[in-house]
Amino acid sequence: MAPIKARLVSYMEPAWLISQSIKFFLIALIFDFFKYKLDLEEFRKLWFSRLWAKIGPMMAAVPYQEPYISALLGRARGTVLEFGPGTGDQARHYRPEQITHLYGAEPNENLHTKLQKNCAAAGLEQYTVLTCGAQPTSLLPALVRQGLIKDERIPNDGLFDTIVTVKSLCSAPPEELKATINLVHRLLKPGGELIFFEHVHSHDDLLTSVLVWFTDFFWPYLMGNCRLSGKLDEYLEGDQSWAEKSISNIREYKGFEPIRYVKGYCRASSVRGWA
Ligand SMILES: C[S@@+](CC[C@H](N)C(=O)[O-])C[C@H]1O[C@@H](n2cnc3c(N)ncnc32)[C@H](O)[C@@H]1O
Repeated sequence: MAPIKARLVSYMEPAWLISQSIKFFLIALIFDFFKYKLDLEEFRKLWFSRLWAKIGPMMAAVPYQEPYISALLGRARGTVLEFGPGTGDQARHYRPEQITHLYGAEPNENLHTKLQKNCAAAGLEQYTVLTCGAQPTSLLPALVRQGLIKDERIPNDGLFDTIVTVKSLCSAPPEELKATINLVHRLLKPGGELIFFEHVHSHDDLLTSVLVWFTDFFWPYLMGNCRLSGKLDEYLEGDQSWAEKSISNIREYKGFEPIRYVKGYCRASSVRGWA
């Protein structure tokens, strides 16, 4: 049984995020009243962008996560696609000298200005923002609009050397996870890598599992569609189509945290087999 104090401290992370979300809900309700024109989706985007503009830099500076994210993003090279870069608080971890062009697939337009500013400050001069999510139904049309593919047909030798996701696939539709990863695989050039630092379902401890199960009923509404019950690790572990995989919990995980972080990479085969 985990020490009660350590358990309570780990439960504080989602509790603090919920309190921040409620605070920014009220702020958005007052200050964005005339902007969202009673469009609920628009309001949710404005609300999340206010929340993330405030907490994003703090979340990106968490001492037990930063070194892992830095090491992973340091692997990115060539033409890179990043899912959900938010306000670009992780951009400083890239090595601009290794990157030819970086595309950020960020569906929330309210975050774009700060995202571009942070990327420029990080020395990422070749940066293009795509207004879309990671799921194929959103990403493929955006790649067509950008002129990277025609008619949603992906070239046999892929488009990107690296695809990055840091705490963003948790916000993509879970029912499209399989299709999203399959598309990632097809978008990668031979030998290209999917690099990830994500949080996934925490199932090693009964009390925590119940808490997560309960929290996930309202969490997506408060946290811009994010879910605590993501299955990215499970899906990647079962996916035998990668040439090489490294998937692990971060070293600090003790088994009872409601937010379990996994990190790693999956490398596509250098011999192309896609039809
Ligand atoms: C928790 S924030 C993380 C931002 C950034 N990756 C970071 O670590 O600072 C989640 C991000 O995913 C974005 N997002 C929302 N829906 C998404 C989707 N369907 N596909 C990809 N990203 C999405 C959000 O707009 C937000 O920027």
